[in-house]
Amino acid sequence: MGAQKIIIDTDPGQDDAVAILLALASPDEIEVLGITAVAGNVPLSLTEKNARIVCELAGRSDIGVYAGCAHPLKRKLVTAEHVHGKTGLDGPKLPEPKIKLQEKHGVDFIIDTLMQEPANSVSLCPLGPLTNIATAMLKEPRITPRIKQIVLMGGAYFEVGNITPAAEFNIFVDPDAAKIVFASGIEIVVMPLDVTHKALVTTQRNEAFRQLKTPVGAAVAEMTDFFERFDKEKYGSAGAPLHDPCVTAYLIDPTIFSGRKINVEIETESELTLGMTVADWWRVTDREANAFFIGNLDANKFFSLLTNRLGRLPLNGIS
Ligand code: RIB
Ligand code: CA
Repeated sequence: MGAQKIIIDTDPGQDDAVAILLALASPDEIEVLGITAVAGNVPLSLTEKNARIVCELAGRSDIGVYAGCAHPLKRKLVTAEHVHGKTGLDGPKLPEPKIKLQEKHGVDFIIDTLMQEPANSVSLCPLGPLTNIATAMLKEPRITPRIKQIVLMGGAYFEVGNITPAAEFNIFVDPDAAKIVFASGIEIVVMPLDVTHKALVTTQRNEAFRQLKTPVGAAVAEMTDFFERFDKEKYGSAGAPLHDPCVTAYLIDPTIFSGRKINVEIETESELTLGMTVADWWRVTDREANAFFIGNLDANKFFSLLTNRLGRLPLNGIS
């Protein structure tokens, strides 16, 4: 099978950065057609800049980065500087990006790409709030049946919320967008906190990044060193949870993960449980199964894939 064509939709975010690096380090499996930034962890002006910084860190200044939506469909933007720091990419000292932001709006890039590429040949990989994806579907409904699959990081069931007692951040920020995406009928693979909280950067795994002795290895070690504070304090975790890289790793080797095809609905009304992914894991309803909801992973296999691939960057020493 040739490389899978994908668009990464993202709100970098240290874990988004690692997900992007893993994708760019895996050209045999993944062809990144472009990166669209969305407001989430930090405002859009920073997420688009961080996406460009990460592409340059990977030695891939050829990748087009597009700015998408600056706020959710209906709700006020909620950001997460308390987790990711003021810049959204706190930790390593990385140079200002030289590559320019693309002129085209990120939503139009998603629409144009899906309309120009053969139907069912492009996958969408959202790593942040689903605002860009839902806006594209609303603006051009013809794209929906042309999307091969959506592999996203978001939601939670057994782990419940990380931004409220009930909701995971990506879904909470734009629950209305999430509702549209989960009701679209597209094949969706969901990487919820249930699995991403098992992908922890322990001290040993962080050291393995450093031992790569490359700028990418050092940057990822410094990103995860910074990013782990929140989860260590809140959950007593053994290290930073690599939420978004689970999406990329799934594209490369889905056997690392296990889950169930179940129904997932999004709460958009109740202020108490806004943004909750109501996952029918025990199939107690007859609601249609609309998502492959991942519950577990082989963490050692995940980290050895990730570390090995990061060690390739920049590819062929092109910088
Ligand atoms: O809840 C974790 C998710 O929210 C991750 O995608 C992280 O980058 C933030 O966007
Ligand atoms: Ca993210």
